[in-house]
Amino acid sequence: MLTRIKDLAQQFAPRLIEIRRHIHAHPELSGQEYQTAAYVAGVLSSCGIIVQEGIGKTGVIGELVGGTDDRLVALRTDMDALPINEISNLEFASRKMGIMHACGHDIHTTVGLGTAMVLSSLGEQLPGNVRFLFQPAEEIAQGANWMVQDGVMNDVSAIFGVHVFPTIPGGSIGIRYGALTAAADDLEIFITGESGHGARPHEAIDAIWIAAQVVTTLQQAISRTQNPLRPIVLTIGQISGGRAPNVIADRVRLAGTVRSLHPETHANLPKWIENIVTGVCQTYGAKCEVNYRRGVPSVQNDLALTQLLEAAAKEAWGNERVQILLEPSMGAEDFSMYLQHAPGTMFRLGVGFKDKPNYPLHHPQFDVDETAIVTGVVTLAYAIYRYWQ
Ligand code: NI
Repeated sequence: MLTRIKDLAQQFAPRLIEIRRHIHAHPELSGQEYQTAAYVAGVLSSCGIIVQEGIGKTGVIGELVGGTDDRLVALRTDMDALPINEISNLEFASRKMGIMHACGHDIHTTVGLGTAMVLSSLGEQLPGNVRFLFQPAEEIAQGANWMVQDGVMNDVSAIFGVHVFPTIPGGSIGIRYGALTAAADDLEIFITGESGHGARPHEAIDAIWIAAQVVTTLQQAISRTQNPLRPIVLTIGQISGGRAPNVIADRVRLAGTVRSLHPETHANLPKWIENIVTGVCQTYGAKCEVNYRRGVPSVQNDLALTQLLEAAAKEAWGNERVQILLEPSMGAEDFSMYLQHAPGTMFRLGVGFKDKPNYPLHHPQFDVDETAIVTGVVTLAYAIYRYWQ
């Protein structure tokens, strides 16, 4: 079956490059993927796949009917682009000023379509049903949630996901056991003191000084009260308050992002932060309000599915083209929303060039080695096929 899947992927390769270049030239921002969705729906329909549009607002799902095994497998790929102005000389560079596929979601969409084309060509040899999820709005960490709310995870037994990675060469893939990405939450703190003359601190409660204590104490407390093997990154990216250089500030707003890898740490973070902030503020007589908003959880790859993916990839490409990633990323990925409903695994698809510099994701000069499309399609099609074996 592997040879058949590889032959099919090679046969579709020129068409897949065309598809990728079309999507790359016509990027759309998060939640506005109307043309991309219509295009995806058209390609899926042409493979005899049952298509539903308008799922998760601007998402699309495709249902491929296979054999009698009742375990439904899902494949998620995302479709949105970024508000970045592309700097490239590619003939298929973005035709939309200020919008660019700088995170490789054009590749993901193409890999999803290619996997659909290959698996639908297997006809009666496909043991079970596959649901293809083409998700909008990953960059704003909303799309997966919209899709889940529309029921895309109903009856799903396992889900696969993929993201390109420029530091892994094209033709190779990276597999990660356990945590792949971090949980990302939003934090907002208001500190209220009492205004007064800059020369008479004893008659006021200085919200700026207390805010400084809060920032410092939070950073120190991570180092002194948290398990160092369960990392937390707390970044206060905004701070505002005060009226004049010689007036003691009565109110300060702090806002930041909180990243963590371990589910238990993640669960305890809101209370832990609130206790520290309240403690510092009470000590100096200020009032505080802590707003902790949960974002996306950490992507935790399922052991058995990751083993399956590793075995399928090694059989397809040889051990030397399959890297086991030793470290997770503190970045976030809303693929984790699906993992609240079924086990799954997400891998990194190498798109790095071997003979020229590679720019990072979200860079205006980001570019990919397109041979990765076939690598991604074969890896996913074969892993999904083997799931039922
Ligand atoms: Ni991305």
